[in-house]
Amino acid sequence: MTWDRFRSVLPATARVNGRGRLEIGGRDCRELVEDFGSPLFVMDETEALDRLQAYTRAFGEGCVHYAAKAFLTAPFASLVASAGAGMDCASGGELYTALAGGFPAGRIVLHGNNKSEDELRQGVDSGVGTVVADSVDDIVRLSRIAGDSPVKVLIRVTPGIEAHTHEYLQTGVEDTKFGIPVGEAALEAARLAAGSPGVELRGIHCHIGSQILTLEPFAETAAIMMRCLARCREETSLDLPDLNIGGGLGIAYEPGEKPPAVEELARVIVDRVTQECGALGAAVPRVLVEPGRSIVGPAMVTLYTAGVVKDLPGIRRYLSVDGGMSDNIRPMLYQAAYTFLSADRPDAPHDTGYAVAGKLCESGDLLTRSAVLPEVRDGELLAVAATGAYGYSMASNYNRLPRPAVVGVRDGKVRTMARRETYEDLVRLEL
Ligand code: LLP
Repeated sequence: MTWDRFRSVLPATARVNGRGRLEIGGRDCRELVEDFGSPLFVMDETEALDRLQAYTRAFGEGCVHYAAKAFLTAPFASLVASAGAGMDCASGGELYTALAGGFPAGRIVLHGNNKSEDELRQGVDSGVGTVVADSVDDIVRLSRIAGDSPVKVLIRVTPGIEAHTHEYLQTGVEDTKFGIPVGEAALEAARLAAGSPGVELRGIHCHIGSQILTLEPFAETAAIMMRCLARCREETSLDLPDLNIGGGLGIAYEPGEKPPAVEELARVIVDRVTQECGALGAAVPRVLVEPGRSIVGPAMVTLYTAGVVKDLPGIRRYLSVDGGMSDNIRPMLYQAAYTFLSADRPDAPHDTGYAVAGKLCESGDLLTRSAVLPEVRDGELLAVAATGAYGYSMASNYNRLPRPAVVGVRDGKVRTMARRETYEDLVRLEL
């Protein structure tokens, strides 16, 4: 592996600096770890903002809702707000965090397949822009809670699409806990919503899965959803101006992976929607999207410090680092692959194979079986690329490991997005 190959999975500002070390957003990674500790998540804010803006250019102002589940802290919510985007919140906790970061409630879409009464009330009271009804129960309860001031609603429909991704990451298939099946069930829900006083039905929503690397499933979904929207319009005699296609665009985790560009995604979806509208004689809706991974994934790296090396001759060489499944469960949960490099000497020849293990007390706690690194020195700083999505947000305190800090870097400046947990934090709910 050479430095040039790594660039395709690192943020655009990543470079080898004058000291021969990895620099991101104008900050030397080794110095960041000296200041903020290891392991450390480093977010290139410019990369995240550029990606948000690319989505907004492609789909239009007001049509992009960042999916907070991929990564959310209060300071990051305010960064997303500054870019003018909306936000998809999947729980009361995400909603609370977004609001704590000063995110405007009117630009929030509230999701959840089992929203509690309290979560619905929290959404209504804080004035969220839209609630996505995942079930008939949502419609009935929301109408009651909203009372005289109707809330904008999209109905989540499952289009019956199988996206080519890990089984756990498919959500649009027929056998799923999410949404309402396309067809008669969806129409019935639309009729119910149209007749519910506390509900202002605006359209329909779907999300077919995550880390999708081809465009066909999106095109197919767009067509099915547009036909469903047209039927809902007929049934309810409402304009129903919104069609939300969800998130799901994949990213490159390893050099050579080529995810479709956002512009391509937009073109394919909008073309297909427009084509269906022509055939149906229907008005073209606003197309909304909810990207998570493709905004934050490539914008972050995780820095780990190399520790014990165990050479099992003829078997494997294990390198243990100071984090693991507690800050990145994805390799264990989805067999997700990542790219590893030395942050201390990114342009040294990477020619030695390692299995990189975490420090948690579990044999399966392997970040990869196939890292290719320089012959690693004790205490060497390693970087893992594209860890921004579903890493920190799925982190745990297994083995009572404090969660790492997250710092944002931009134009040579650094700030804390989340401070490192302390041992005191670990017992704060208990003593
Ligand atoms: N909208 C809805 C309704 C969703 O359920 C999701 C993701 C998104 C948007 C954002 O999808 P994205 O653009 O990030 O693919 N933990 C898994 C991913 C779970 C995705 C859940 N829903 C992982 O680590 O790969």
